[in-house]
Amino acid sequence: MNCNTPIAEIVSTGRFLPPEITTNADLESMVDTSDDWIRGRTGIKERRIAGEGLSTAQMGAAASLDAMDKAGIGPTDIDLIILSTATPDRLLPSTACDIQAIIGATNSVAFDIGGACSGFLYGLSMAEGYLATGRAKNILVVASEKMSSIVDWTDRSTCVLFGDGAGACVVQRSKEKKGIVGTHHGSDGTLAELLYRPAGGTLIPLDSKSMEAGDHLVKMSGREVFKNAVRSMVEASEKALADAGLSNDDVDLLIPHQANIRIIESTARYAGIPMDKVFVNVDRYGNMSSATIPVAMDEASEMGILKTGMNVLTVAFGAGFAWGAVAMRW
Ligand code: ACO
Repeated sequence: MNCNTPIAEIVSTGRFLPPEITTNADLESMVDTSDDWIRGRTGIKERRIAGEGLSTAQMGAAASLDAMDKAGIGPTDIDLIILSTATPDRLLPSTACDIQAIIGATNSVAFDIGGACSGFLYGLSMAEGYLATGRAKNILVVASEKMSSIVDWTDRSTCVLFGDGAGACVVQRSKEKKGIVGTHHGSDGTLAELLYRPAGGTLIPLDSKSMEAGDHLVKMSGREVFKNAVRSMVEASEKALADAGLSNDDVDLLIPHQANIRIIESTARYAGIPMDKVFVNVDRYGNMSSATIPVAMDEASEMGILKTGMNVLTVAFGAGFAWGAVAMRW
């Protein structure tokens, strides 16, 4: 239990959403689907799509600058950039280095982590570790995802789910007992092929054969993902709260990964947290993978829903399978 001694605190959040909106009606003209089906099964009404000129690094940099501005710090104050992304601009170097170059964070170390939808929460825990050892003071934890670049736009069972966007936060050593009070993370690599991109790495290289087969794009077993997501997110929530010495009744605001309203509602129900304490924006953005939680935190804060003194629980699940929850005193 570490509820009395938080080490790491989110001092500001930021976000960037591409301006282009793709509605369910737009998708009806691309694949055999309907607004009714998409809303009923997922709760999604529209999502943002980054056009060709907008990269993962550019979106991440814009979200980072927003967060830095709110924290009142400049680029040379940043000493570490941790980027979560499933859609790096290039396989080499890390996209975090591109963000570093764009924002001019010349004093920082920068690297990517691959935790899929849970990556932002993994990044927060890494930041906590750096702060605990005193090896960094001003850390940017960024999540930027251009999911539109890896989705199969001919597969109606996946293309309707995802969207593009970026969120970021500045993490510093805790002051006044605010910050991360409980954490739980888990992974199960035996289930990797229920949600993955088969080709494009060393196992199945990107060549004309794998590209013709569409193996460089996202494949998903939706029902299996659904069941595992709810189970793992409930378990992670309970364990993170226990780590913090808190119960479900102590939670003032749940900010879950925004994949699907039915996953969110089931998780909240089994975790014993009423929906009026749950922040939801999946209707407007779809599933932006690891960017959903920082974008939601930034929106909730701006709307006055996320307030100082609250017990906030964040929880995510995604490819790996990999999941996690982080409880914070805001
Ligand atoms: N429009 C219309 N019909 C569709 C669509 C669509 N976009 N997609 C699938 N269907 C059809 C299927 O072909 C199937 O038709 P059939 O009965 O004639 O064969 C029917 O709808 C039912 O398909 P299911 O896959 O069984 O539908 P299900 O109720 O499971 O809903 C969904 C599918 C929404 C994908 C659900 O499984 C789900 O939400 N899974 C979680 C997936 C997810 O969120 N992934 C994101 C990444 S992981 C994460 O972030 C947590």
